[in-house]
Amino acid sequence: PPLWLVVPAAGQGRRMGAGRPKQYLELGGATILARTLSRLHQAFPQARLVLCLDPDDPWFRPQWVPFAHWQRTDGGRERMDSVLNALQVMAAEPDDMVLVHDVARPCVTTADLQALWQAVSVHPDGALLAMPVADTMKRADARSCVATTEPREGLWHALTPQGFRFELLQQALFQAKTRGLQVTDEASAVESQGRRPLLVPGRRDNLKITHPEDLALATAILAAQKS
Ligand code: C5P
Repeated sequence: PPLWLVVPAAGQGRRMGAGRPKQYLELGGATILARTLSRLHQAFPQARLVLCLDPDDPWFRPQWVPFAHWQRTDGGRERMDSVLNALQVMAAEPDDMVLVHDVARPCVTTADLQALWQAVSVHPDGALLAMPVADTMKRADARSCVATTEPREGLWHALTPQGFRFELLQQALFQAKTRGLQVTDEASAVESQGRRPLLVPGRRDNLKITHPEDLALATAILAAQKS
């Protein structure tokens, strides 16, 4: 079945405090958005892309899109709304595969993308790139004092891409929205349907650019990956 890529890129990136959405900051001469799309295209040149953008976005340039088949759609209030908009406009069949990838993760590697794709192809509940938690995990009280230390055994960070059958993903997100669930990734919506997406161990350098200091990290990661 055809492969669809959904890239939500309608966030404001306020934690970056940069005066423009973070996907339009430059990393080594190209915008983060251009770099992310280029990584996806290297792994999946035939895929169809749906890009979620703020309707009033003045920074986007179509020449940053390397895909032959692509369309844009309006972002929504939350990330989940943006992804739902994308699923609504794309002419997908129920059994088509959809990978959703944050625009803010330009360091994802072809090897990780292919490993995820393999997992999604065989696992009916879908799959996501993820990494086991390395740090000790604390739960805070209201005053930022430690209330408890959480056992990190079995805890993973959820990364992207996350991939699912089109019909499963659409139903899961739609029902999560109808039920007013706060979901911050696709997998949690699918989990709320009683499904168990597969955690695919991904590289630690697939970071989500969020805070100003992440730009230096991403620059170093991209340089190291080239050598
Ligand atoms: O802000 P955060 O990094 O968690 O956003 C994750 C991804 O979701 C980013 O790629 C961002 O552009 C996107 N997003 C969106 N629509 C929103 C909020 C976030 O497409 N309303």
